[in-house]
Amino acid sequence: MHAYPYTITISSEKGGVGKTTLATNLAIYLKAMREDLPVTIFSFDNHFTIDKMFELQKRDDDNHDVHALLMGAKASEVVLTGQYGVGYIRSSTELGDIHERFKGPMTLTRMLAESGISGIVIIDTRPDLNILTQNALYAADRVLIPVKDLPSLENCKNIFALFDQRGIDKKSLALIPCLIDSRIKFEGIFKDQKTLLRAIAVNRGYRCLDSFISKSPKVESLNTNPDGKIYPILTHARGTEVHSQFMEITRDILRSVDTTGETRACLYHTWLMEKEAGKKESYLARLEGLADRCLICGALLAEAPDDRSFYFETSDRSTRGFLHGACVSNMLCSTLYSLQENDPTFNTARALVADKVSRAVSFLLPRIGFEASRLDYRQFSMTGELLLQKHIEIPGFDAGEFNGVHDRLFLLLNEALAGFEGALRKESWLSIYPVDPDKPESVLHEESYKTIHRLQKHFADEVKLLNKL
Ligand SMILES: Nc1ncnc2c1ncn2[C@@H]1O[C@H](COP(=O)(O)OP(=O)(O)OP(=O)(O)O)[C@@H](O)[C@H]1O
Ligand SMILES: [Mg+2]
Ligand SMILES: [Zn+2]
Repeated sequence: MHAYPYTITISSEKGGVGKTTLATNLAIYLKAMREDLPVTIFSFDNHFTIDKMFELQKRDDDNHDVHALLMGAKASEVVLTGQYGVGYIRSSTELGDIHERFKGPMTLTRMLAESGISGIVIIDTRPDLNILTQNALYAADRVLIPVKDLPSLENCKNIFALFDQRGIDKKSLALIPCLIDSRIKFEGIFKDQKTLLRAIAVNRGYRCLDSFISKSPKVESLNTNPDGKIYPILTHARGTEVHSQFMEITRDILRSVDTTGETRACLYHTWLMEKEAGKKESYLARLEGLADRCLICGALLAEAPDDRSFYFETSDRSTRGFLHGACVSNMLCSTLYSLQENDPTFNTARALVADKVSRAVSFLLPRIGFEASRLDYRQFSMTGELLLQKHIEIPGFDAGEFNGVHDRLFLLLNEALAGFEGALRKESWLSIYPVDPDKPESVLHEESYKTIHRLQKHFADEVKLLNKL
């Protein structure tokens, strides 16, 4: 079975509020309190705190780091087993250029969903709200926002606003008072820093954890020592109240891990797969009901499958199918230049037409009247620009007269657009799209069909406008 991580992001636009301290120590406490739970941590920071804390031995031999992960490397290749049994991904100084790749807000969610990482992932972010941080926020089942004072509390509103803008549920967001100096006491109901911060937070509609983290000189000293290491609170500051606060926070996190049925990564993956399946279904649906013959030469396409170079669709979508390349260029050559096949210039003209039409959409709108019958023929680029327009008289169409010039056109129009008692369906038209003759059906795949869908709609709008005039 595919594994999905429960993701925790630590974020705050304010620097120095204790994000990294919270992220790294939380990883260690989680691992200590539940040994069999895989815990993986990485940071978008370039302080290398993660590396200094978890690295078992120095390694600068490869570039298996956060940069590689974000560039699409497999998680199994970049996650290293570190100290205290915590999995970590090495930090990188090169995340600047990643922003280009991370235009969308859900890229990291997708990466985590497909990573196969199980257990818990902790993401330590930089003090900003750039696209990487946003990705980490949206990927998280839990976002912990450390606040230590009013300015940092003030800053939170940007995170909440971000979720509002995207219409994402904010229940994952929670503030946690950090670096709380317990010696500071106030008169009145807000008796200390954390009570004051919590009251203001709640007043603004922010969820705030019951737990908090005190400021402790012992904790502060853990990253300043002669061997340049950073020591965990669990092993080196057990005597402090911060130790029991971390135990409490960890217990709280484990409770939500246990009660979360489907993590964000899991939900996203399921949604992605459904979307893919939906695409496949609509592709199969589009394959159904295609005309079994080339409507110009009448040959069964199963028997003459080569050179299926065009796909056509009528305005009402009731007739769709493939046409031979040679049939289309012969037809257009006659139609556009009034040339018969035995004309000496026919071949040269056809080569020209074939070249043009292989790169453009042809739009055919017949206007059959009492007095005269005409064809409004247009060529468009794939982006919908009009390249060519020609009004072609087609006398004798109504009477079904063949004259050697318009025969192929008449056949196509009659076959594709025939309505009641031999007349054409009212206001109907058709368009012809070039396709890859090696795999013509691929035009019906979601991505390529989008273009057709868009152009058909565009043509429909134009015809509507024309009919109003
Ligand atoms: N509970 C604590 N008691 C005392 N000092 C602390 C505590 N937690 C963190 N610190 C100290 O505060 C400083 C900032 O902490 P930390 O690096 O975790 O913050 P940060 O939010 O990650 O900063 P940045 O925004 O620069 O990444 C560090 O010197 C750290 O040792
Ligand atoms: Mg940090
Ligand atoms: Zn044909």
